[in-house]
Amino acid sequence: MPELSAENSTSMKIHARTERLILREWDASDLDAFAEIISDPEVMTHIGNGEVRPRSSAEEFIQRVLEHQSTRGWTRFAVEHVESGDLMGFSGLDDKIGRIDFGWRLAKRFWGVGYGYEASAVALWVAQNTFSLTHITSQSYPENVGSVRIIEKLGMVRIGETEEFSKVVHIYGFESEWPDGLTQ
Ligand SMILES: CC(C)(COP(=O)(O)OP(=O)(O)OC[C@H]1O[C@@H](n2cnc3c(N)ncnc32)[C@H](O)[C@@H]1OP(=O)(O)O)[C@@H](O)C(=O)NCCC(=O)NCCS
Repeated sequence: MPELSAENSTSMKIHARTERLILREWDASDLDAFAEIISDPEVMTHIGNGEVRPRSSAEEFIQRVLEHQSTRGWTRFAVEHVESGDLMGFSGLDDKIGRIDFGWRLAKRFWGVGYGYEASAVALWVAQNTFSLTHITSQSYPENVGSVRIIEKLGMVRIGETEEFSKVVHIYGFESEWPDGLTQ
């Protein structure tokens, strides 16, 4: 678990920070950076049907996360790079699939130096400690080895399986919360 500190989210709009990154609320000005992230074919390879998303998807996403943070606080939190101040992507929670799904997506230039795990560990801490969320799940295509590794490092185990776009999706959760696996 990276060392982190929590901050007052209403005045600072910051949920937590480490030496290298900040987990914060979204701002409408994040749109351009997020649109660029989801227009990158490498970033999108293991997401949904694997296709890049247009700017309109980024607009919908920003609208949704802004609404979530003003109504219930938690969402897919924005991750900001301390050194540059750039938006790195997101790490956080959504419930549009009927359970709390924990996911992450960073711009390619930030891959490979531990940011993915660090951002996810911090977001999990915030989810559990700031927002008292339980029964958090995460899911991945098995071939998305980086993502599966992050899930395992967070301590989640396989609790179920589903299918998307004719491909197997593995579902993970914490064993203590899902002793019988995913039953829904
Ligand atoms: C998944 C993602 C967040 C990983 O980010 P990252 O910053 O490169 O990850 P980290 O550097 O923290 O690596 C975490 C672990 O995964 C491993 N890993 C990461 N990418 C990997 C890859 N492509 N192949 C094999 N292992 C990989 C790392 O070696 C590390 O394991 P270790 O601690 O045992 O050495 C990033 O690749 C991403 O944003 N991908 C696109 C979006 C996506 O697929 N999201 C998940 C949808 S389910």
